[in-house]
Amino acid sequence: MAKKKVILAYSGGLDTSCCIKWLKDTCNLDVVCFSAFIGEASDKAVLRKRAYSAGASKVYIEDLKKEFADDFILPSLWAHANYEGKYLLATAIGRPLIAKHLVSIAHKEKAQFVAHGCTGKGNDQVRIEVGVRSLAPKLKIIAPLREWEFSSREEEIDYAKRNKIKIDVTKKSPYSIDRNIWGAAIEAGILEDPWREPPEDAYYLTKGKVPTKSRYVEVTFIHGTPVALNGKKMNLVSLIEKLNKITGQYKIGRTDVIENRLVGIKSREIYEAPAATVLMAAHAELESLVFDREFVHFKDVLSLKYSELIYYGLWYSPLKEALDSFFVKQQHLVTGTVKVKLSEKCAQVVGRKSPYSLYREKLATYSHDDQFNHEASKGFIELWGLPYVVATQVGKKSMARKKR
Ligand code: ARG
Repeated sequence: MAKKKVILAYSGGLDTSCCIKWLKDTCNLDVVCFSAFIGEASDKAVLRKRAYSAGASKVYIEDLKKEFADDFILPSLWAHANYEGKYLLATAIGRPLIAKHLVSIAHKEKAQFVAHGCTGKGNDQVRIEVGVRSLAPKLKIIAPLREWEFSSREEEIDYAKRNKIKIDVTKKSPYSIDRNIWGAAIEAGILEDPWREPPEDAYYLTKGKVPTKSRYVEVTFIHGTPVALNGKKMNLVSLIEKLNKITGQYKIGRTDVIENRLVGIKSREIYEAPAATVLMAAHAELESLVFDREFVHFKDVLSLKYSELIYYGLWYSPLKEALDSFFVKQQHLVTGTVKVKLSEKCAQVVGRKSPYSLYREKLATYSHDDQFNHEASKGFIELWGLPYVVATQVGKKSMARKKR
């Protein structure tokens, strides 16, 4: 009888390479690997070779940057998704994409299992598993890192060597890094001391010498989608990549966070989101120009909830879907250009324009062109403050009674 199949989310690192062999031997499964490229592509040939050396029977390597940008980054941008005010959720939005592809490959390969290399104390295990279960409740999920016997990296290296898995242990960074085009997350090593300032070598997207001169970048949006940089049209993936390069030089979008994980612990992590930080600021700025006050304020309330849902692994939940339709509803108005000034660790919006702008200079001006009806303010204030006038009168009366 043919062996049962498992689709493994494969990164090419030590953990997931050991997972291949472990799943094959311990669970007696035929292991099909799936790797998603949503950051810079690593060498496909090396990845493939490594997976086969560990015992994979088939390897899928897919460039999913476009899908990631269109279906995961854009909705997050429209929602202004930002967990605890400091994390633009790059890793968190990558996981539901991986879950989706694990499920579709599992269907294609008629597999009953999927597996991942997440640890047992992070948020990513939750995101992948809840994602998979929401899309395909019948698939069984295996998380080797929660089950296997290895308790250190050295033991894994030993296991890999014994089994002739072609791993590369020389390039191991002292940190745990996850990155894609929306940003990088870096933790572990000396970063585990929350008092210790992150050293420069911990950064990936925002390193190098900062240009001495500040510069401007203009981002143009059509219906909420960034479509051009400095007037030059480009697709969303290229735009994000280009902007990462430009703003990364200025070390824009770094944060250093004590984060409340879903699994109950606090962790220290540093993030880099150079392009995301600028796009988020520019998009929000354009919205303040074209949306009315109530809309802008209410949206902030929903953004908070949306960010939690994403962080908590509930990308495929009904509430997330409903909130998406709220955020998309007015994006047709988010058309225009925002000018951002870049200097060291700072992206400052300094100009904005839109054909749908609600700003009226004639209403706002303090010059003699002013068309604002000052007299109307008097009646407005009288009625606006009326409830509090009455409340104060009643309060005074009750105080007087109390004294007697
Ligand atoms: N804490 C972040 C999250 O839960 C990032 C997790 C991955 N971080 C890493 N350095 N591998 O989304």
